[in-house]
Amino acid sequence: MAKIISVTNQKGGVGKTTTTGAVAAGYKLKGYKVLCVDLDPQANLSFSAGAETEECPTIYEILKGEANTYFSIQKMDSFDIISSNILLSGIELEFTQTGREYLLKEALSSVKDKYDYIFLDTPPALSILTVNAFTASDFIIIPMLADIFSLQGIAQLSETIDRVRKYCNSNVKVEGIVLTKFNMRTVLSREIKGTAELIAERLNTEIFNTTIRSSVAVMEAQTNQLDIYNYSPKNGAAKDYMDLVEELIERGL
Ligand SMILES: Nc1ncnc2c1ncn2[C@@H]1O[C@H](COP(=O)(O)OP(=O)(O)O)[C@@H](O)[C@H]1O
Ligand SMILES: [Mg+2]
Repeated sequence: MAKIISVTNQKGGVGKTTTTGAVAAGYKLKGYKVLCVDLDPQANLSFSAGAETEECPTIYEILKGEANTYFSIQKMDSFDIISSNILLSGIELEFTQTGREYLLKEALSSVKDKYDYIFLDTPPALSILTVNAFTASDFIIIPMLADIFSLQGIAQLSETIDRVRKYCNSNVKVEGIVLTKFNMRTVLSREIKGTAELIAERLNTEIFNTTIRSSVAVMEAQTNQLDIYNYSPKNGAAKDYMDLVEELIERGL
């Protein structure tokens, strides 16, 4: 049975998509069966994995009940993926029925036994899509930038997780926070690590030991639709992401 893991933060540009793709590809390199679900209407993860988003069923059709989950899976080099499409942005208005928080959980139930891990890349919002992700998940991982703005919005994130725990999924656990685009040499980053620890306390979780370095190879790899290990195996960020995968495995994930 797959462990389901949401990668989330309602802020954009903090490394959700990058972390989802790199951690998922890392687990696959370790020999696990991995599926990613792109829940962001902007479809960045789908693009960076080289997946089709137009001429195929996406998570939008699945959530609407118009496509079968298993037959919507695309097998890519880095991992299997269910892609997204801009139509997904209409879901908040389209889905008003009772039980709408459970649509993703139900959709994934038929493929859960075919994978070891299912990673959910979430949009930069605390929307019904994010609530669906938390409802379907066993664990939440939060990528965060080491900057002062990271403090903002943590209260709302914490509140959303608490509400999901209360009404939809009492078992979901915030496994930890990963600092991304991190540069240990700058004083600012070191100071923010202290701030991040306060945030972790607030969310009743921890900062992972592994931090992810800033590297231009990250964006280059995405542009070339390759995972970071394939694009630049010796790269610092590639090494950091593999360290993160190993840390997660050590933690029992
Ligand atoms: N470690 C890193 N070093 C350099 N650039 C990064 C790193 N992680 C992410 N980026 C870049 O930052 C931008 C935002 O990252 P992304 O993963 O798309 O964030 P989100 O999904 O939270 O919006 C992207 O252009 C990505 O290539
Ligand atoms: Mg993203």
